[in-house]
Amino acid sequence: MSEQAIEDPQIGLQLIPQQGSEYAAQVDHLYYALLGISGLLMAILAGLVVVFAARYRRTLGRGRGKLLSDRSGRRVEIGFALSLCAAFIGLFFWASHLYLELYGKPATDITIDVVAKQWMWKFQHPDGTREINTLHLPVGETVQLRITSQDVVHSLSFPAFRLKRDAVPGMYTTAQFTPIRTGESHLFCAEYCGTDHSRMRGKVVVMSQTGYQRWLAGQGDAPSPADAGEQLFQSYGCSGCHKPGDATLAPELAGIFGKPVPLASGETVVADEAYIRDSILQPQKQLVSGYQPIMPSYSGQISEEEILQIISYIQSLTPGEQND
Ligand code: CUA
Repeated sequence: MSEQAIEDPQIGLQLIPQQGSEYAAQVDHLYYALLGISGLLMAILAGLVVVFAARYRRTLGRGRGKLLSDRSGRRVEIGFALSLCAAFIGLFFWASHLYLELYGKPATDITIDVVAKQWMWKFQHPDGTREINTLHLPVGETVQLRITSQDVVHSLSFPAFRLKRDAVPGMYTTAQFTPIRTGESHLFCAEYCGTDHSRMRGKVVVMSQTGYQRWLAGQGDAPSPADAGEQLFQSYGCSGCHKPGDATLAPELAGIFGKPVPLASGETVVADEAYIRDSILQPQKQLVSGYQPIMPSYSGQISEEEILQIISYIQSLTPGEQND
């Protein structure tokens, strides 16, 4: 694991930022291939235009010789079009492969919740530590970001990791990457989101694994998102109806995360982050089959961060273990 420092993000002036992950190197290869093919094509076309214009200009009166027959002319054209087509379709598959790797859901070591708002980035680590506009990460561990916005659309951009992901109100987007070297790099908002959009930036600080643990330990004792969610679950009164082992008033929540839920409408939905958020804010929208529409909406009373904590709590529940 290389420990070389990335240049000071405020000073370092590079054509493209130093690669902060293996993924960044792969994106760069794709980018150079695209640039190479396009450059070659442009050079051939522009070169021929210049050469022909000079060689066959009218004042020289030079003959153009025998033209290709229709048949061989067509062959050249079709061959040219097909090989270009193959090259760009190849690039498409290459790029989709990389895209799926970034936005898929592989096993990750750490999940970090990200809430964007005008005009700041709020992060919460799995142990509860929060920070704003700065993100500390351990080197060599796969990080998954779970991103949402509490107002307008923002876009979280980490140039050193060649990663950009929109933060959309009402949605949870994810992205993952594995930092490979310690040091600091930029973090930006890459979607115009209002007056202070350009100030919505900060830095990523990749530390050694022990350094990261030490840093976390030095940030005080905040409850983990799941523990904070459990407290909210009590204080908002959710636990009054959603009782463990008693599904008369409301469905039991232990073990539902990621599972299909039958709805009163006859449809089935998967209980993911977005479903849980919707159920808190618009409980009548997707009523679970067999229940009365008695749950009040918490819209306007609960923040996006609190919703994420309740989601973490529900995620942490296993059947038969829900605390009361
Ligand atoms: Cu947030 Cu631009």
